[in-house]
Amino acid sequence: KTKNWKVLSFNRIGDNEIGYLTPVEENKEIPFLIKRVYYIYNVPEEIERGFHAHRKLEQVLICMNGSVDIKVDNGYEQEIIRLNDPAKGLYIGPHTWREMLSFDASTVLVVLASQTYDESDYIRNYSDFIDVRDKLL
Ligand code: TYD
Repeated sequence: KTKNWKVLSFNRIGDNEIGYLTPVEENKEIPFLIKRVYYIYNVPEEIERGFHAHRKLEQVLICMNGSVDIKVDNGYEQEIIRLNDPAKGLYIGPHTWREMLSFDASTVLVVLASQTYDESDYIRNYSDFIDVRDKLL
């Protein structure tokens, strides 16, 4: 029943004069080995994405530009986390339902993932998500 998500704060190297640089390394700022990177962009403002969970996948979402609300839900507890800072990341562990809401037209959301793409790792139906969760107890 524990929350399997966490906001991560990354280093910001630099200042307003020269701008900023944020490094993220696998097994350091990112709590897994990074096997895949993808990015979501040019999302119309009325579109909502996600609406799935993963069986094994771990991800860190970083909003590089613009803003997006991420709704995370472990079946017991829900939270909405606004991402609008490239020096922050949202870690999402397995068995967490996520929805991506309130995109800006300018939003660029980068996702670092622990596994390559595998459709069989997805749980795309909320009631299946609850069934799987109940079997894990
Ligand atoms: P999906 O994960 O459903 O996106 P979202 O939750 O943002 O709406 O993926 C959308 C489509 O892209 C789906 O057909 C699978 C494909 N896809 C890949 O081929 N590789 C990937 O790494 C990802 C994340 C998705």
